[in-house]
Amino acid sequence: MLLADRKLLITGVLTPQSIAFASAQVAQEQGAEIVLTGFGRAMSITEKTARRLPDPPDVLEMDANDPAQIAAVADELGRRWGRLDGFLHAIAFAPTDALGGNFLATPIESALTAFQTSAYSLKAVAAAMLPLMRERGGAIVSLDFDATKAWPLYDWMGVAKAALEAVNRYLARDLGRYGIRANCVSAGPLRTMAAKGIPGYDDLASVWGRRAPLGWDITDPEPVGRAVAFLLSDWARGITGEIVHVDGGFHAMGTDLAPPGGGEPAR
Ligand SMILES: NC(=O)c1ccc[n+]([C@@H]2O[C@H](COP(=O)([O-])OP(=O)(O)OC[C@H]3O[C@@H](n4cnc5c(N)ncnc54)[C@H](O)[C@@H]3O)[C@@H](O)[C@H]2O)c1
Repeated sequence: MLLADRKLLITGVLTPQSIAFASAQVAQEQGAEIVLTGFGRAMSITEKTARRLPDPPDVLEMDANDPAQIAAVADELGRRWGRLDGFLHAIAFAPTDALGGNFLATPIESALTAFQTSAYSLKAVAAAMLPLMRERGGAIVSLDFDATKAWPLYDWMGVAKAALEAVNRYLARDLGRYGIRANCVSAGPLRTMAAKGIPGYDDLASVWGRRAPLGWDITDPEPVGRAVAFLLSDWARGITGEIVHVDGGFHAMGTDLAPPGGGEPAR
C-alpha cells in the first residue's frame, strides 16, 4: 500500500464533498493513519463528516490563522505519534467582497484575509510541524487553482492562489535539506462548500467539460485525492516545488475542443 505506516494530518475536511475528505479516504485505503482538523463553528460538521470515513479519525481544532491552535495541534501529534510524515493543506477563504467580479473595489482588509487564510497559513502550518518532520523527512501537499491565469469571478482568491504557489516553492527551497517535499495539486473545479461561496462558479465549471480532453466531473474529487496520496508517498520522493494539474488536461489546451464531428483529431 502506498501510505502504509504513514502518520498524516489532513486539514480542510468539511463535508463528504470536500477535496480533503476524498484525500483522507484514499489515504486510509492506502494504509495511512490520519488525524483531521476542523475549525470554529464548523467543528461539529467536520466531526460528523469524519464518521463517514472508513476508519473514523479524531478531529482536532485548528484555525489556520491562530498560531496557538496550530501549536496545540503540533503538540498533540507529538504526544500521539512522536513524528509526522506529512500533511495536506486544504484551506481557503475569501470574504464575499473579494470574489465574484468585484476585483477593483475589494478593500485591502478583505484581500489580506484571503492571503492570510489561503496562502500564508501554508507556511504557518509547515513551520509548526517542522519539528515533527525534520528527523525522517516528509511531504506537504496543498490545493491550488491554476493561478497562472485570471479567471472570471475568482478575483483575490486567484491572487491568493498565486501566493500559495510561491509559498510552496519557498517551502521546497527551505525544507528540502530535511528531506521534506512541498507540492501543490492544481485541481479542476469541484462542487464543494468553498466553491458554492463563489458566485457563478457553476458557469466556470461548465466551461471545463468543453476543454478538458479527459472530461471532468465536478462531483468527483477522488482523482484529486489520489494525486494527493501519491505526492504524500515515497513514490513522489524526487518531486518538490511542483504543481501537479489534476484537471482533466484543461490547463494544456489553448481553446475548447472541437465538437464531435467538427474536426476531431485523427487517432
Ligand atoms: N472546489 C474547487 O473547485 C477547488 C479547486 C481547486 C482548489 N480548491 C482548493 O481546495 C481546498 C479545499 O477546498 P474545497 O473545495 O474542498 O472546499 P471545502 O469548503 O470543503 O473546504 C475548505 C476548507 O477550508 C477550511 N477553512 C476555511 N478557513 C479556515 C481557517 N481559518 N482555518 C482552518 N480551516 C479553514 C474550511 O473549514 C473547509 O474545511 C481549498 O484550498 C480550495 O481553494 C478547490
